[in-house]
Amino acid sequence: MKVLICASAAEVVARAAKTVVAKVRAKPDAVLGLATGATFEPVYEELVTAQRAGVISFAKATTFNLDEYVGLPTAHAQSYRSVMRRCLFDHVDIDPARAHLPDGMASDPDAEADRYDALIAAAGGIDLQLLGIGVNGHIGFNEPSSSLGSRTRTKDLAPPTIAANSRYFAPDENMPRQSITMGIATIMEAREVLLVATGAAKAAALRAAIEGPVSAFCPASALQFHPRATALCDEEAASGLALMDYYRGIDHGE
Ligand code: F6R
Repeated sequence: MKVLICASAAEVVARAAKTVVAKVRAKPDAVLGLATGATFEPVYEELVTAQRAGVISFAKATTFNLDEYVGLPTAHAQSYRSVMRRCLFDHVDIDPARAHLPDGMASDPDAEADRYDALIAAAGGIDLQLLGIGVNGHIGFNEPSSSLGSRTRTKDLAPPTIAANSRYFAPDENMPRQSITMGIATIMEAREVLLVATGAAKAAALRAAIEGPVSAFCPASALQFHPRATALCDEEAASGLALMDYYRGIDHGE
């Protein structure tokens, strides 16, 4: 895995946005895999700015989000569809019909998960998959012990994920406990993967992902098998890495 360590979270955001801009400029009909979460909100802000400045266009692009809560109405402010509309879709020239998320309200979530995998395949697969990482090492909502061969499916959220995401829900509101998430094998089929982590809270998970053994205990560690995976992080998230000097030495700023 290529590891890029930036001096600040702001630099991580700029570099992540630059990677997406470069991909879409090189391939206007690119298929992008998107993530929700605090890490990517400023990245999407930069993409909105880039699109408004005419640097890129999403008019021919297709997107697939990693996951969606099961049983949360799409119109709810915290559904990932709503979050993506607020952060990106409503502000850029993407065709809403090509901005995909799993339907968390589907009457048959398992059938919906199969449909989603088939839709990704029909679009020709994902060119660039953006990934955040959970404090427990999850990617998408593939929680520890997820099969490394998993496809898109329903998945119960783990307690650390519920704890981290409950801040987005009112105290008297029951946050969803299940998601439909791309599986690890689905993610691994993306032609290129960019894992982004900022802040000290991610340091242990990032170390396990990059330098630990490949194990379902840290789902992100599966990326060690990906031929084109990059981990982009700030100093705080990188603080647990043993080979920090080596990574710095091979970062040529590309
Ligand atoms: C979100 C997702 C999750 C997040 C991860 C990090 O679609 O799939 O894996 O990327 O939980 O979330 P933040 O960025 O909020 O720390």
